[in-house]
Amino acid sequence: MKFFIDTGNLAQIKEANDLGILDGVTTNPSLMAKEGIKGEEAIAAHYKAICELVDGDISAEVLSTDFDSMVAEGKKLAAIHPNIVVKIPMIKDGVKAIKWFTDNGIRTNCTLIFSAGQAILAAKAGASYVSPFIGRIDDSGWDGMELIGQLRHIFDVQNYKTEILAASIRNALHIIKAAELGADVCTCPLPSILGLLKHPLTDIGLAQFLEDAKKM
Ligand code: E4P
Repeated sequence: MKFFIDTGNLAQIKEANDLGILDGVTTNPSLMAKEGIKGEEAIAAHYKAICELVDGDISAEVLSTDFDSMVAEGKKLAAIHPNIVVKIPMIKDGVKAIKWFTDNGIRTNCTLIFSAGQAILAAKAGASYVSPFIGRIDDSGWDGMELIGQLRHIFDVQNYKTEILAASIRNALHIIKAAELGADVCTCPLPSILGLLKHPLTDIGLAQFLEDAKKM
């Protein structure tokens, strides 16, 4: 399973990248706004900075919602760097735009996926990635991981090439479950990635080894 970090924060991206396990980055308008990125030039410069930090796929989301504007915006985003993947919302014009980008050799990540039907449409249109939002499904009282399992089954049976990108990750257990269910990618906030490191027996064991090492 590939690891992406889900943030627009350059320091966090660098920290995850320095671990040596990072395969890419996802952003969204909320994450970009959180970093104070405003205006077309600043947005493009920020994506360029991320691309220069990480050698992997970088999702950059369009802000428009009609077909023509999404295509125009996506073309500009894709021109920033060859690693940019244009992130498109799961709406009717979004599906049309994904098909247009597929036909024109531009990779896409279909975002805001909450059902198998939405993922099937995005895969049929040729999306490189579909992003089911696990945490937000869990927040609403359903089981987000069930969707990951269902998508894995459908994509295997149908031989879809689209990668399943588990998104809206809230904790380390989400990452483990996504791996278990065969997600191709997991995009995670830094604390969830670092959560994978933690086990009290590791801390106790290391403290003991260091204590014993003094007697060596
Ligand atoms: C996915 O690409 C989104 O950026 C993200 O995972 C959304 O997560 P949230 O539900 O924590 O906002």
